[in-house]
Parts: sequence; structure tokens; C-alpha cells
Amino acid sequence: MITRESCVAQDRDDPLGFARDRFELPPSTIYLDGNSLGALPRSVRGRMDAAVTTEWGRDLVGSWNTAGWYDAPGRVGAKLAPLLGAGAHEVTITDSISVNLFKLLVAAARLRPGRTEILAEAGNFPSDNHIVESAARMLGLAARFVPASEIADAVTEDTAVATLSHVNYRSALMQDMEAVTAAIHAKGALALWDLAHSSGAVVLDLARSGADLAVGCGYKYLNGGPGAPSHVFVAERHQAAFDQPLTGWFGHADPFRFGDGFARADGIRAVLCSTPPILSLLAFEAALDAFHGIDMRDLAAKGRALCGLFIALVDERLARFGVSLASPRDGTVRGSHVSLRHPEAFGIVRALIRRGIIGDFRSPDAMRFGFAPLYLGFADVFDAVAAIEDVIRHRAWRDLAPIEAGAVT
Ligand SMILES: Cc1ncc(COP(=O)(O)O)c(C=O)c1O
Repeated sequence: MITRESCVAQDRDDPLGFARDRFELPPSTIYLDGNSLGALPRSVRGRMDAAVTTEWGRDLVGSWNTAGWYDAPGRVGAKLAPLLGAGAHEVTITDSISVNLFKLLVAAARLRPGRTEILAEAGNFPSDNHIVESAARMLGLAARFVPASEIADAVTEDTAVATLSHVNYRSALMQDMEAVTAAIHAKGALALWDLAHSSGAVVLDLARSGADLAVGCGYKYLNGGPGAPSHVFVAERHQAAFDQPLTGWFGHADPFRFGDGFARADGIRAVLCSTPPILSLLAFEAALDAFHGIDMRDLAAKGRALCGLFIALVDERLARFGVSLASPRDGTVRGSHVSLRHPEAFGIVRALIRRGIIGDFRSPDAMRFGFAPLYLGFADVFDAVAAIEDVIRHRAWRDLAPIEAGAVT
């Protein structure tokens, strides 16, 4: 039987335990939703204050030059790049995942003219596949969907680009990026990865994996704040011919000449379209300080250990109540969250939130718990499972008022 004492001892020996102090977390809360909205890094508040008070409030428009606002997308991309295993000049920060996915799909199709389809992951985050369908329709290509495990076999010489998540948002199943990319390349297609549930949570080596293009999320494990802009990776070898469809002035080679005709910027800047959301970008830049000095291999190992402990406790204490595991048991093919199934999942998640245990619900019957290694400990995991057991044992959701339709779950 796993005891709370053994979990406390694990926290005492945790080489990453110090990182929790890099975050502001509310008391009496166990935050298991960093895979949806990461916690607030302490480094952000002061940076926001300076950005608002001095840069915006006092220096006004001059801050585009004096405070480095203009260069922020590339500068922050370079700061993030080591966490992705990418070159500093291969990453930028801009727009949202869905918007960037659209840009990259069209750019990929333009890099593979004459090919007739986009291959995509069935069961991927719905927004991704809505974008795939629309981009395919616009380009006159077919959109074909197969499960992630079948992408490598399904890709053909008609495929322009294959796109899938590295870590599935629901199950947390993690793909072998290197092997899948190699299979995609064997047919001459491009590999476009969604890193939403990977960046800041697992070890990524985009260079070694051979990825062509990738998008990722700023507001989940990277803790960039609500609506933080997304990141985009374009491998250096594709940058010279990279041609994305949203040809706004921030992707222009010389935007302040205000000339007619579009001339694409060199390098990763060609991914940009519009004026960046500077406050969000600066918050994200500061948030990345929380990763300073952290080896991603240690971080991922802690994530696996936290999830592994959670699963062991679920087996021990929750299986008898009809809770089943909807994520891989094998930590080497799992991201940093765990999904459970139960017919009352919605009510359980709501009752847990009332007790300060914050996870999320994914329709129809999944409870999703994220284990952000920088600010969670092993005793947190123990306490969370004890709370889930108590909620189910007492059917605590029956005491809750009905929720309004349309709420964020
Ligand atoms: C896997 C995945 N892809 C895409 C998105 C959509 O991101 P955005 O709102 O930035 O378009 C999400 C959002 O949670 C996601 O989890």
C-alpha cells in the first residue's frame, strides 16, 4: 500500500522540488490542470508591471524600439528553442495554434506541389482537424484522417503533409516523433507536429527527430498565461522556400517602407502576420524563466514519476469504484497528464474543484489530470487521489447546483 509518508519522502528527495517556489499558487489548492492553463510564474508579475508602467505608460510608442518590442517574437522564440531541441532561428512566437496550423498546412502544401492530400490524425484535438478540413478545401486537396498509430503506414506519395499531435490531448499517448517522421519522409511528405501537450512537459528534440514544421502552446506547460501566443517551428532547411498564406506586414521584409507588393521576410520572421500581442508576449518571455537551469530530462522523468504514482494509486483506491484508466500505463509513451473514465466524470470533476483539486472534464466521460513537474509534488498526488476516492464514495456531486450550459470545462 502506498502511504502519504512515502510520498512526502519522495518530495524531500526531489531534485526539482525547489522549482515550486518559482510559482504563485493559491493555498489549499492542488492544481492538476497545468495542461490546460499553466500556473503563474513569479517572474511574470514584475515584468508585467514594468511593461505596463514604464514601457507602455511612459515610453509609449517608442518602446517598439527601445524596449525591444519589435524583435520580441524571434527573441522569445530563441529563448524557447532549447526546450524544443530546435535552433534559435527556427522558432518564433505568434498567433494561436489553430491559426498557425492553417499557415503551416498551406505552406507545406506549397512546398509539395502536385500532391493531392493532407493526412491527419483522427481523434486529434478537434480544432486541428477543423483547420485541416478547411485548408484542404481551400487548396483543392483531400483531407484523410487515420488514427495516430496508423499515420506511418497510411502516408503515400500523394500526401503533401501529415499532421498529428505528439501527445494526444485526451489519452496522453505519445508518438515516436523520429520514427513517424521518418515514415512520412520515406514517401516524400512533410511532417507537421502539434506540440500542445509536449512543450515544457516532455523531452523534445525537433532537430534529431527530423520534424519539418511544428506548432505548440504557450499557455499550458509553458505557463505563459491565458491566451499566450503559440510557438512555431520551421526547420531551417525549409525556410528559404517557406510561403505561408497570411501575408501581413509583420512577415514583410521591410514593413516600414509601406511599399506596394509583398516581399517575404527572411527566415523564421516569414511566419508572422500581424502586430504581436506584446503584453502577452512579454509575459510569456518572463514565464520561461521558470525553466532556467532545468534539464528537460529531469523534468520529464519527474512527470513520468508523478503520473506513475497517480496510476498506481488509482489502481489501489479507485478501480473498485468503476474508475478506469484511459491513458497508457507505460510512461515512455505517455505525456504528463492522465485521463480516467467514469460515468459520473463531470460531477466528480466539479465536486473536486469545490474542494480545491483542479482537473478538467472532457466529454463524454473523461476526467483529465495534468502533472506539471515544476510545481507539483508527490504528496499532492496522494492527496488528490484521496479526495477523488472521498468524492466518489460519498457521491458528492449530488450536492452541487446544476451548471449552466456552455461553461468552460
Ligand atoms: C492539442 C491541441 N491543439 C490545438 C489546440 C488549440 O489551441 P489554440 O486555441 O491556440 O488554437 C489545443 C487547445 O487546447 C490543443 O490542446
